[in-house]
Amino acid sequence: MASPKMFMIIAIVAVSVPSILATEHLVGDATGWKPGFDYGAWANGKEFHVGDTLVFKYRAGAHNVLRVNGTGFQECKAADDTVPLSSGNDVISLSTPGKKWYICGFAQQCESGNQKLAITVLAQLRSPSTSPSPSPTGTSPSGATGSTVSRYYGLIVAIVGMVML
Ligand SMILES: *[C@@H]1O[C@H](CO)[C@@H](O)[C@H](O)[C@H]1NC(C)=O
Repeated sequence: MASPKMFMIIAIVAVSVPSILATEHLVGDATGWKPGFDYGAWANGKEFHVGDTLVFKYRAGAHNVLRVNGTGFQECKAADDTVPLSSGNDVISLSTPGKKWYICGFAQQCESGNQKLAITVLAQLRSPSTSPSPSPTGTSPSGATGSTVSRYYGLIVAIVGMVML
């Protein structure tokens, strides 16, 4: 029989699962968003999922972030009505699947091959079963995937604990 406590648990899980499984991607890691960094290599091998966020960090006024389409990415041109992100700590929510392109609109950085990022956002939710290299014993997850996995199991343990209270 459904109890008020059960509804509360379901509500808490429904609200917290997407945020717990979402990942914040700091573009360029410690380097941030600046010339002389290979953003193609940075994105290579990373998984971007709907619900994740991209964070562009740079000195405000020195760079910016323009969202462009594939043509704009090749030609380093944004549409006339594109509003640049310019705070120096720009957070972009990846809310739809598909290819996304970002360039810097300052001083020919894009034209010289710098400061351009192309990613593909995957539609499905992040899941521990997509772990690229499961260990044979299943006991030693490592790296970013491992932290997602352990957070996921932490959530499961928390839910089971709440149900059994
Ligand atoms: C890409 O954006 C440009 C404006 O910068 C626009 O002229 C062009 O039609 C767009 N291409 C596509 C495929 O949407």
